[in-house]
Amino acid sequence: MERVVVTRRLPGTALDRLSEVAEVEVWPERLPPAPEVLRDLVSEADGLVAMLTDRIDATLLDAAPRLRVVANMAVGYDNLDLAELGRRGIPASNTPGVLTEATADLTWALILAASRRLREGIDAVRSGDWLTWEPDWLLGHGVGGATLGIVGFGRIGAAVARRALGFDMEVLAWSRHPKPAEGVTFVPLEELLERADVVSLHCALTDDTHHLIGADQLARMKPTAVLVNTARGPILDQRALAEALRDEEIFGAGLDVVVEEPIPVDDELLTLPRCTILPHLGSATVATRTRMAEIVVDNVLAGLAGDPLPNSIG
Ligand code: GLV
Ligand code: GLV
Repeated sequence: MERVVVTRRLPGTALDRLSEVAEVEVWPERLPPAPEVLRDLVSEADGLVAMLTDRIDATLLDAAPRLRVVANMAVGYDNLDLAELGRRGIPASNTPGVLTEATADLTWALILAASRRLREGIDAVRSGDWLTWEPDWLLGHGVGGATLGIVGFGRIGAAVARRALGFDMEVLAWSRHPKPAEGVTFVPLEELLERADVVSLHCALTDDTHHLIGADQLARMKPTAVLVNTARGPILDQRALAEALRDEEIFGAGLDVVVEEPIPVDDELLTLPRCTILPHLGSATVATRTRMAEIVVDNVLAGLAGDPLPNSIG
């Protein structure tokens, strides 16, 4: 029987379909297998279901001579070395589409949290600093009628923009490949940063987008504006963000992704009250994660059968 390694337990029953045709080995821990452990696990694997926390690079592939398919349980795939996979003729897939709406919802949770200072409010309630109703306490900025700037206009960026119409927002977008969309004005990145009250990042992490937003870009933003990142941590220069928040160059930030996940508990960003950080929950709904599990199984089954992957990348 063929062997498939799955680097974490998955929600739902998708793996039952895989077990009918292959021997399935599921890594049972909450933490991912260390690289040397994963190398060991894949030594006889024909298929691999990987998470965004697993690096699929030459060293790993050298240890997996039988591997014929890699299904990544994420829409982003910066954790895969596609060149190495291509060189070896191993097809790979992602899970696009099914997490668009869930991630757009979570983006809005962060936009509202950062604009209306939810973290400081929750902290005050818990610490007893809520003394009474005060006319000038914890004032934020409304998003109704404000300007939203979407950086990277793929499916998720477009879904965030659709939700903005309900807040009567003007929507600006920047993309290397602008696709006309109703109610969205494409502008250069500098102009977007200067005009937007909310800047939200939705591009993929590539060599081109690493530190796309750094000190110079943050300096262009309004002191009343908030920055939200639900894409990938390294798109944003995190040290520059900490400085911008400390110097009140921008009003606040909401991050669902950071450079090092989990963020070290002594990271300076955690001491900044206007910075709300979530533990990479963008796609974390029951329905979405269940669909993602079904999709990785569909792709592994296709790969084992030698068929084109339904969600092929690279
Ligand atoms: C999550 O970050 C994903 O890329 O699916
Ligand atoms: C991918 O980046 C998407 O927006 O779906």
